This record gives sequence, C-alpha cells and structure tokens, in this order.
Amino acid sequence: MSAALRPTLERHTLETARAKGVFLARTKSFTRRTRELPPNLQRTWDEHSSRYLIEVARGLGHTSVADDVRFDPLSLFGRSAPLTIEIGSGTGEQIVAAACRHPERDYLAFEVWVPGIAKLISKAVAAGVDNIRVVEADAQLALPIVFDEAIAEEIWTFFPDPWRKARHRKRRLVCESFAPDIARVLVDGGIWRLATDWDDYAWQMRDVIESCAFFANPYEGERPDRADPEPTRGGFAPRFPGRVVTHFETRGLDAGRSVHDLVAVRIPRDTEGDVTAPVNERDESPQR
Ligand SMILES: C[S@@+](CC[C@H](N)C(=O)[O-])C[C@H]1O[C@@H](n2cnc3c(N)ncnc32)[C@H](O)[C@@H]1O
Repeated sequence: MSAALRPTLERHTLETARAKGVFLARTKSFTRRTRELPPNLQRTWDEHSSRYLIEVARGLGHTSVADDVRFDPLSLFGRSAPLTIEIGSGTGEQIVAAACRHPERDYLAFEVWVPGIAKLISKAVAAGVDNIRVVEADAQLALPIVFDEAIAEEIWTFFPDPWRKARHRKRRLVCESFAPDIARVLVDGGIWRLATDWDDYAWQMRDVIESCAFFANPYEGERPDRADPEPTRGGFAPRFPGRVVTHFETRGLDAGRSVHDLVAVRIPRDTEGDVTAPVNERDESPQR
C-alpha cells in the first residue's frame, strides 16, 4: 500500500489528537454520567481500588489521559502474560468471568462510568482474581496514547452503546477512524471481537472491519442476514463461546432482538497491503 493511502497508526500526543479532531470538541461515544457512588460501592472503592484501578494523570477532563501516560503490561500485572483489553466493560460481567476462567491471561478494562468500575472491582474482589486491571478513561483517547504497538492478543467491544438515532450515529464507538487505533495495539494475528444486538450497528461493524486495511474478516460472506440492506453479503461470526450472557445481551434478547458476533483478525505487519497474503482465518482460540 502506498504511504499516501495508508491510514496512520502513530501514537497520538495531545497535539496530534487535536489535529485529528479527536480531542476537546470531538464527538464522544458516551454521555456524562454521575461519578458519585452509593455508600456500599464507595466502601468497595476505598478498600479495593488500589488493587485493581490504574490511576492516571489526566489531560483535560476525568476520562482523558495525559500525553505522557504509558501502560507497560509487565509492570501493571507484575508478569508477562497474554493480554485481553475490553473497551466499555460496563459492570465487569464479561471481563471478571473471563479472568476467573483464565488465570493464565491478563485482562485490562477501559470504562468511563465510575459506578460500573466500582461494580467491576466488587466482582473481582468477590471472585478473588488478580489478573484484572481497570482504568477510568475514554478508550478512543487513551488507546493511541498509552500503549506501545502490538501489545494485546485480543480486544473486545461487546454491546457498545447503540446510538440509534440517525443524527447520533457519529457517536458510535466502532467506526472507521477507531479501527486503525485498535489495529496498532493488536499483535499480528490478534483478534478484535465485537457483538451487538442492534442489526444496523452489526452491519456497520462488518463494514468497518472489511474496509480497514489492517484487518481481515475470517467470516466474510458467512451468515447472511435477510434484514441486511445487502442480504447476501454476510460477514458475521458464530457466537464467541468465551462470551458470557450479560445484562445487556439479555435485555436485547428480551426485546426480541438478535445478536451478531463479529471477528476481525489483525493482518501480519509484514504482509500489510499484500492482497494475496493468507490470513490465519480460523486460527482463533475459542475459549479466551
Ligand atoms: C451498553 S454498555 C455494555 C457493557 C458491557 N460491554 C456488556 O456487554 O455488558 C457500553 C459501555 O461502554 C462504555 N463506554 C462507552 N464509550 C466508551 C469509551 N469511549 N471508552 C470506554 N468506555 C466506553 C459505557 O460507559 C458503557 O458502560
């Protein structure tokens, strides 16, 4: 791929973020919510946040990170282990269940909702797991700043806020401009897993994956959906067996919606732009 056509994978600074328009006046994928905690969660926070919460220097606002913040997984977890990052962990249902099942792996959650973070910590304490860390930060801002290239084996984005109204669609987390930031952080062959209970968001996710030069969709053409504006196109994965049913999935199913899973495989860096290069299509562990 020519340099001119190639999406940038550079680490952002405040200045480059500003230049890209992702800071300050940018459109956020979340709304401002209370940071206050009820007494029981405040107690959990006071007693246990030092074990699980990563404190970071801020740029402008509670969900930003300063330009010089860097996350070194080795020092965050005190060991070197395969890393999964969850973006928008909610109350931690998914990530705590995974951390329990896989003590040999490490899990890092990004969440902007403080009561959700407190509930995640509460679940981690109850489960007695030590392989989870959580940071209060907007992942769209933080990912390009805090990580070196190629540090995570998996990134999960399950049931992101749907932003249903047409005029709000630009707030959706899974979008063309965020995909290269995800790709930068994943190792070669690493996997971005997604799920949603909103059909038109599933189609958007599929479009984002298939139009990003750094990803291949191993399920391209599979599971076509009659409701899709392109009903024969498909591109949807089987349900990820490592994904537990959360409150958000249950709510969608109860409302009669169906759930789409999607998988994006990070194309090896030395074959980027080589359309003939094979991708390890099904080389994804189903149990992480
Ligand atoms: C609908 S909930 C889904 C929670 C969880 N993934 C699940 O499946 O149960 C989406 C979560 O993403 C969080 N979120 C939205 N935008 C975010 C961002 N830019 N960075 C981090 N978290 C974000 C929201 O605060 C919310 O808790």
